[in-house]
Amino acid sequence: MSSCTCYHLLLLFLAILFLFSFSDAQTTKPKPTSLLFPIRKDVDTNQYYTTIEFSSPHNFKNMVIDLGGQHTWFDCGNGSDLPTYRPIKCGSRKCRNVKNFGCVGCNLPRKPGCTNNTCGVASYNPYSNDLYAQGIGEDALYIDSVSTNGLSIGLSYHSPQPYLFSCANSDLLRGLSNSTTGMSGLANTTTSLHTQMSAQFNLPHKFAICMPSASDYVIGQIFIGGGKYMYPPYDKDIATELSTTPLVINPVSTAPAYTEGDPSDEYFIYIKSISVDHKVVAVNSSLLSIDKQGNGGTKLSTIIPYTKLETSIYKALVDNFNKAAALRKIKRVASVEPFGACFSSKSIATSQTGPLVPYIDIGLAGNDHDWRFYGANTMVAVNKNVMCLAFLDAGSKPRTPIVIGGYQMENYVIEFDLVSSKLGISNSLLYHNTTCSQSPLR
Ligand SMILES: *[C@@H]1O[C@H](CO)[C@@H](O)[C@H](O)[C@H]1NC(C)=O
Ligand SMILES: *[C@@H]1O[C@H](CO)[C@@H](O)[C@H](O)[C@H]1NC(C)=O
Ligand SMILES: *[C@@H]1O[C@H](CO)[C@@H](O)[C@H](O)[C@H]1NC(C)=O
Ligand SMILES: *[C@@H]1O[C@H](CO)[C@@H](O)[C@H](O)[C@H]1NC(C)=O
Ligand SMILES: *[C@@H]1O[C@H](CO)[C@@H](O)[C@H](O)[C@H]1NC(C)=O
Ligand SMILES: *[C@@H]1O[C@H](CO)[C@@H](O)[C@H](O)[C@H]1NC(C)=O
Repeated sequence: MSSCTCYHLLLLFLAILFLFSFSDAQTTKPKPTSLLFPIRKDVDTNQYYTTIEFSSPHNFKNMVIDLGGQHTWFDCGNGSDLPTYRPIKCGSRKCRNVKNFGCVGCNLPRKPGCTNNTCGVASYNPYSNDLYAQGIGEDALYIDSVSTNGLSIGLSYHSPQPYLFSCANSDLLRGLSNSTTGMSGLANTTTSLHTQMSAQFNLPHKFAICMPSASDYVIGQIFIGGGKYMYPPYDKDIATELSTTPLVINPVSTAPAYTEGDPSDEYFIYIKSISVDHKVVAVNSSLLSIDKQGNGGTKLSTIIPYTKLETSIYKALVDNFNKAAALRKIKRVASVEPFGACFSSKSIATSQTGPLVPYIDIGLAGNDHDWRFYGANTMVAVNKNVMCLAFLDAGSKPRTPIVIGGYQMENYVIEFDLVSSKLGISNSLLYHNTTCSQSPLR
């Protein structure tokens, strides 16, 4: 009888020990201050992609990043590498919290992405313009953090709660870089990567991107939760040097499927002016603000390679640029499609900030600092002898007259602060003799 009590006591003791060591492990790991995801560029498609670790450590999935994307979706295959995947039931609390489109079912054998009575979301591929209603589910993530000095990778974390995403039909991959199997949305939705991660880790709701300029081996960063943003040999924290402008709410959704009355969840700003070598480009100012129908304004997009401008703005920019280039004795040559202004590379000197060409400055609303684009972000080499102005004509009636594309965002730190509703833009890292890929976070 006494031995039996002892046995129970021992078990209880072991259980308490186990509880202690378990809670110890949980509490001694400090809360991260900033989470880190990589960005690579696929040079064949000009797509930028990140890598997310799903369900078990080292189960890496590459996904094209999309500032306008509402959630993460990827081809889950037969789902054998997602052992802890669980579908979200339609009508559940989690389902009501996402932009859902009712219930979806599936008549094929059950696997992640093929379940009945599942909360449906609209997964969109902007390259193929394909839109699929698919079930949403959840599984764990593994995430790296940034050390508090901003100079090294800190601890790795298991997501406190499962991460919501959707398993795509492989048809939805059309047009995506062959290095990837899906897309990860960074829009202002409850399901985007930064919203889920900042909520789970109780971090300020902000994220920043630093997009690399070349090849899959060069790495840029997505930071979630804020700075420091350190890019040696430049020794200052770039988070303290951002030029900010308000993020503007577009009252009409720009998503391919939405509920009447929803505002857009993409990132819009107002710009005051565009100038070339300090000379202001004449722009119809009514195009620069957003009207009640949601037309007008400027947005940022990682899925178009080059900034697209409404025809009258495009023509005025090209005209001003050609004149300023002529003053700098830069020789114009025949245009190479799809670009409208091309120059002889031999007539262009190079500098730390790329080809030495007229500066293009964008005046940001509410700020005296311009967003300055140097040659590295305004000129693209189409062959050995010719460089072209890396802006495109968007036609005469685009819904958004100015869409700033990926090439123009490379090697800047761009912070989307959803707490104070501000966009922060650094000076070109090239100006500071560094690049996104010179971050020690790799
Ligand atoms: C699932 O797919 C993986 C690789 O894609 C394969 O190795 C595995 O055998 C498949 N499992 C089943 C049950 O079909
Ligand atoms: C979904 O329900 C239908 C009809 O009841 C059934 O035929 C099918 O096997 C179910 N699918 C899955 C994946 O459970
Ligand atoms: C992907 O690979 C296939 C086959 O190698 C090729 O035909 C296709 O053009 C590639 N797609 C992209 C987007 O690079
Ligand atoms: C300026 O743009 C607005 C909106 O597209 C248009 O209605 C108006 O006619 C344009 N004005 C001029 C002078 O082109
Ligand atoms: C982001 O979404 C939240 C919640 O819907 C909204 O309150 C906020 O105004 C949005 N911010 C921006 C900049 O779109
Ligand atoms: C820029 O950085 C490189 C090393 O990355 C260094 O060799 C060079 O001297 C620096 N140039 C300037 C102008 O600071």
